[in-house]
Amino acid sequence: MKQEWSKVLITVRAASPGEGELIRAIHLDAFAGEDEAPAVAQLAVDLLTDETAEPRLVLVAEEVAEEEAEPLGCVLFTAVKLEGGPPLSVSILAPLAVKRSCHGQGVGRALVEHGLERLKSSGTDLVLVLGDPAYYSRFGFRSGHRIEAPYPLPYPEAWMALKLQPGALDSAAGVARCALSLSAPEHW
Ligand SMILES: CC(C)(COP(=O)(O)OP(=O)(O)OC[C@H]1O[C@@H](n2cnc3c(N)ncnc32)[C@H](O)[C@@H]1OP(=O)(O)O)[C@@H](O)C(=O)NCCC(=O)NCCS
Repeated sequence: MKQEWSKVLITVRAASPGEGELIRAIHLDAFAGEDEAPAVAQLAVDLLTDETAEPRLVLVAEEVAEEEAEPLGCVLFTAVKLEGGPPLSVSILAPLAVKRSCHGQGVGRALVEHGLERLKSSGTDLVLVLGDPAYYSRFGFRSGHRIEAPYPLPYPEAWMALKLQPGALDSAAGVARCALSLSAPEHW
């Protein structure tokens, strides 16, 4: 996919499991100055090869350049099972990272929208996210659903879901069980 934004022309492509260091670098840049930066970057790298994360979708946004394409951002969607709930196909969006030099230019939006479109076409019922409602609500994510997070959360309104198939949230319930790498308490 190619998309023209105010300042950059970007492409969004699937990443390969061998691109761990590129993905680490994007996260270290995006989260620079935050205590969680190394842990989030390591999480992204671990999820690339974590078998319990499958089905997994990893997208990288790159600036279209005449010479080498510059990586600008990355998003990961990984598998979730609803323990005690119906057998829905559920994914979780985490992490999302855009390099600081290009914040506010639509790179995050392109990554999330492209990922959601791909998941919808492949039959995914629901996507979960733990994040800032002010950001994720623009994609349709909402709190107030009946899926429990794996741990008690200090800000329950940050635990949001988006249905990709009609009616998918009507029966959705149970406890979200994520990939092993994402299930460590420090990520919640
Ligand atoms: C959050 C992040 C991914 C957004 O990427 P981006 O490419 O800058 O976002 P976009 O250009 O698509 O969207 C920009 C819009 O989102 C808003 N926005 C950016 N970060 C936000 C945040 N944390 N909370 C609320 N709104 C936010 C901007 O104000 C802007 O709003 P506008 O469209 O009304 O002007 C990026 O800022 C980032 O990597 N931050 C550090 C890592 C991080 O916090 N990741 C998310 C973890 S949940």
